[in-house]
Amino acid sequence: MKIVILNASPRKEGNTNKALTYLLERYKSDDISSFDLVDYDIKHCMGCLNCSKTGECVFGDDMDIIYDAIDAAELLIFTTPVYFNSVTSIGKQVIDRFQRNYARRFILKSKPKVDADKKGILFATAGSKEKNHEFDGVRMPVDLMFKANGIREYETIIVEDADKHDIENIF
Ligand SMILES: Cc1cc2nc3c(=O)[nH]c(=O)nc-3n(C[C@H](O)[C@H](O)[C@H](O)COP(=O)(O)O)c2cc1C
Repeated sequence: MKIVILNASPRKEGNTNKALTYLLERYKSDDISSFDLVDYDIKHCMGCLNCSKTGECVFGDDMDIIYDAIDAAELLIFTTPVYFNSVTSIGKQVIDRFQRNYARRFILKSKPKVDADKKGILFATAGSKEKNHEFDGVRMPVDLMFKANGIREYETIIVEDADKHDIENIF
């Protein structure tokens, strides 16, 4: 299975990366492409809406690598720590750039709305426990990001209380 990981944690030795190694033990795939988003030159979406007319983004930056990788993916894993009840800023920056893929599927209709063979996982770590929908700010943008990429079937895993315990013991 071709797995693509978009890792929105800025901390390479942090909780999210540590927990991710345990998640990946589930899969026997030797075809995993992992992108530490913080290492890539990805510009902020400027809302020019060129993609709504042409299906193309005006920027020619590293997002092109991510677009190509996701086209080929069978499983897309989006990983992020919870920062201020949301995805990290680099994560949101990348999510906004998927407006290009949203436009292709839902505005221009040049691609099918759903790729039935593509699945997803939202994988987040958080310092606290969720009591009253605090992590919805992670779930909702990622839900739309999956839809923009044709993914309707996905699993959500949130590792709570991640700062108080060894990740090995809670996942
Ligand atoms: C800037 C910042 C904001 C955070 N905001 C939250 C938050 O709103 N809710 C929460 O549960 N944890 C919050 N945390 C804790 C992180 O979610 C937690 O430590 C996470 O596992 C960090 O993953 P990382 O090591 O991959 O960055 C925050 C941490 C930082 C650094």
